[in-house]
Amino acid sequence: MTLEELETIPESMGRRLHANHMELLGIGETMRLAHAHWHLKFGRQDAWRRGLYRDQLTELLEENGPPARHPVEMKDGWAIDTSRSLPHLDRVLADADKIIAERSGKRQTTVGAYRSYFQDVWRPEADPETYPAFLDFACSSDLLAVVSRYLQSIPALSTTLPSGIRFVESNAAFDDQPGKPHDSQLYHIDYYSLPNVYVLVLLEDTTPEHGPWTFLPRSLSQTVKDKLGYWKHGRGYRVSDDEVYSIADRKEAIEFCGPRGTVLFIESSGCIHFGSRNSLKPRFQLMLGYTGACRTDFSETFMQPKVYPIRESDSRLRKMVLQKNLLKL
Ligand SMILES: [Fe+2]
Repeated sequence: MTLEELETIPESMGRRLHANHMELLGIGETMRLAHAHWHLKFGRQDAWRRGLYRDQLTELLEENGPPARHPVEMKDGWAIDTSRSLPHLDRVLADADKIIAERSGKRQTTVGAYRSYFQDVWRPEADPETYPAFLDFACSSDLLAVVSRYLQSIPALSTTLPSGIRFVESNAAFDDQPGKPHDSQLYHIDYYSLPNVYVLVLLEDTTPEHGPWTFLPRSLSQTVKDKLGYWKHGRGYRVSDDEVYSIADRKEAIEFCGPRGTVLFIESSGCIHFGSRNSLKPRFQLMLGYTGACRTDFSETFMQPKVYPIRESDSRLRKMVLQKNLLKL
């Protein structure tokens, strides 16, 4: 493929390369190609975000509302915060109660739908205005300090895959194939961008019976990936427990359980994970997805990007997070 062809990948080709979890060329190869493509397109955007992170992060955070506390530190790809002290978290939980009362327990997907056990009840057209706490939380300096540091760049809320903001109900009662783990109930490592960082919030108390998000720390995940030849051509996206536990000790798996308001920061592109497996009790989780300027998938060639509301009075940092391509090229 020439440089010129790489710069203009049409939608049909993007779809083909992305189909069945990048089956055509394999995940690793497709990610390299996608990154080269997006770098040609958004390299300046990326350099701008990285430069501002390097030179002006403190100033940007101050202007956005000074961090309330010492930053959470992600180690080996993750960190769990149980302090319930992050800004806007109590507002998020109060609004979550209203959304759960209004929307939970009703299956919204048709039979045979992809991931029937997992439904996003967030309504992007109205909820950011009705429930502003969620974007306030997602754009708070305390969260952004952690995510920026991990990305070594000013992050953007993802506009394609995964959705930047999801309010998810996982429920075994909705599962078309109960008792047989499938799709994201099986181990995998996300390929959307490198790195892709999630901030996950438990919106209700969560135990193993809720089908918790489950992961291995990054270093161990990478050992599993290397030994299984995962992401190589011909290797499927989903990996069985037996394969993973033939390399990693099952005891190393961490279940994201805890009281409501517990927050997990995690690099889902580095830590092998699964979730929503056998959610006998419905699980409610907020999932915020952050990426850099240059993705490693082709979703932007064929998906309409999400648009997050921005006000003129928003800080520069908040505008950068809510508008992935803010720098006009
Ligand atoms: Fe995932």
